[in-house]
Amino acid sequence: TIVILDFGSQYSELIARRIRETQVYSEVLSYRTTAEQLRQLAPRGIILSGGPNSVYDEGAPHTDPEIWQLGIPIIGICYGMQVMVQQLGGTVERATRAEYGKASLFLNCAGDLFDGVVDGATMWMSHGDSCVQLPEGFEVLAHTENTPCAAIANTRRRFYGVQFHPEVVHSIGGAALIRNFVYKICQCEPTWTAEAFINDAIREVRAQVGDKRVLLALSGGVDSSTLAFLLHEAIGDRLTCMFIDQGFMRKLEPERLLEIFRDRFHINVEYVDAVDRFFAQIDGVTDPEEKRRRIGHEFINVFETESQRLGPFDYLAQGTLYPDVIESANTNVDPKTGERVAVKIKSHHNVGGLPENLRFKLVEPLRKLFKDEVRNVARLLGLPEDIVRRHPFPGPGLAIRIIGEVTQERLAILREADHIVREEIRRRGSYDDFWQAFAVLLPVRTVGVMGDRRTYAYPIVLRLISSEDGMTADWSRVPYDLLEAISNRIVNEVRGVNRVVYDITSKPPGTIEWE
Ligand code: XMP
Repeated sequence: TIVILDFGSQYSELIARRIRETQVYSEVLSYRTTAEQLRQLAPRGIILSGGPNSVYDEGAPHTDPEIWQLGIPIIGICYGMQVMVQQLGGTVERATRAEYGKASLFLNCAGDLFDGVVDGATMWMSHGDSCVQLPEGFEVLAHTENTPCAAIANTRRRFYGVQFHPEVVHSIGGAALIRNFVYKICQCEPTWTAEAFINDAIREVRAQVGDKRVLLALSGGVDSSTLAFLLHEAIGDRLTCMFIDQGFMRKLEPERLLEIFRDRFHINVEYVDAVDRFFAQIDGVTDPEEKRRRIGHEFINVFETESQRLGPFDYLAQGTLYPDVIESANTNVDPKTGERVAVKIKSHHNVGGLPENLRFKLVEPLRKLFKDEVRNVARLLGLPEDIVRRHPFPGPGLAIRIIGEVTQERLAILREADHIVREEIRRRGSYDDFWQAFAVLLPVRTVGVMGDRRTYAYPIVLRLISSEDGMTADWSRVPYDLLEAISNRIVNEVRGVNRVVYDITSKPPGTIEWE
C-alpha cells in the first residue's frame, strides 16, 4: 500500500488512481493521520499531496512531526514538498515568479526517481511559493527556468519532493516518475489487480454475510450490475436482486436486463412491474424538481413494500465507490480555516438512495474502487461489454428528458428517438466517444412540411457530450453527417416529430440533463 496524506488538493484522488494504475493499492487519508496510525498501517510509501495553503500561513496544515522517523519512503508533491522542506528545517517563501502551467524540467543529476524521464520533459506546475533553502542532507535533482528547486531528495533517508504535478496527464514522464517511486524507491509488488480484488472481495463478503440473505436494487448501470455479479459469485442464491421497472427506461432495456441476469447468468432477479404506479405519481406534474421528488419517493415506497414481500433480508448491498468514501470522510481542507470540508459538489442525484432509518446492514464490496476499476472488475466477472461501457443514465430515466408533463404519447416518441440516436452512434463505432448521447423531447410544437402536407409536431433535441466525470462537460463536435443521419431517421421514423435540433451548450452553464 501507498498512503496519500491529503492536504486538500483537487488532485489527491488522481494521485491514488495513478498509483493504482501501477497495480499497487493506494488510499487517500487525512493529513492529520498520526505517525502511530501510519505505523499500524505499515504502508510501503507515503505521498504528501498538494494543497491550497501556504506552509508559512498561520494554521496551515502540517503532518505529524513523527512521520519523519518512521523509516518509510516519502515523496511530497507541490505543497507536500514544501511541508517536507519546512518541517525538516529548510525555508519556503513566496516565489518571485509564480509558475502555472507547463514548464520544462531539467535534470541536475540522474537517479532512480527520474529513470526514463527525459531531460527537458514537460511537467505541469501550479505554485506561488518556492523552496529557497533545503534542509540538511537534501540535494537538488532538477530545476525549471523559474524554479531552481523543482525536485529535491535526501536519498539516504528516501525523502523526495517535486514542485510539479507528476499525476496530471500533461506531465510527460509523470507516470514514469510515479512508477519509479512505487517500485524503485518503495519496492512495492504489483498485487493490486482486478483478479486479486475479486478473490478478496468474495472472501470478505462470505465472511461478513455468513448464511444470511442479501438484497440488491438492480438498475442495470455498471455499479449495481457489477455488484450483482460479484455477490452472485460469493453467495449464489442468497442474493436477491430487485429490479423495479418505473416505466422510464430506454427501449428494450428491461427485457435485455432480464435476459442477461436471469436467463444467461442465472442470477436471482425479481422483476417488479411498477410502471402504472410511477406514471400515476407524475401524471400532470410539470415542475422538474417535483417530478424527481415524486419518482424518488415512489421508488422508496415500492422498494419497502417489495423487500417486505420478498424478505426478510439481513443485508442490503450498495454500490458505494471509493470517491463516495473519501467524500464522506471529508478529507479535504478549507484553505481559509484549515477545517475539513468536502470540496467537491456532492452529486444530488440519488433516486436509488434509501432512507437513513434503514433496517438493513450494508454490504459494500466496491467501496475501495474507482469507477474505471469497477469496469475492469466487471469485465473479469464476465459482464457483457455493453453494460461495462454503458453511458450514465439518470435514475428518473426518460421522465426527466421529457420537459414538462410526461404523457404516454411523449414517452413513446422519446423512447423511439433515443433508440435511433444510440443505434446510429453504435453503427459508426462512436459510442465510446461520448460521455452521454441522448434525445430530449420539448413540449411545444412547430410547423413543418412532409409530402405536401403541413405538419405540427414536437421538436427533439440531441444532446451529445464529452466529459471526464460529469461535473463539467462540453458538447461534442460531431461530424455533420452523423447529425444528418440521426435527424433524418428521427423525422422519418418517429411519428409526432418533425424537427431535430442540436444542443451546443457546455456545462457549466448548462447541465447535462435538461431537467
Ligand atoms: P447534470 O444534469 O446535473 O447531470 O449535469 C450530471 C450527471 O448526472 C446524471 N444524472 C443522474 N444520475 N440520478 C442519477 O443516477 C439522477 O437523478 C440523475 N440526474 C442526472 C446525468 O445523466 C449526468 O451524467
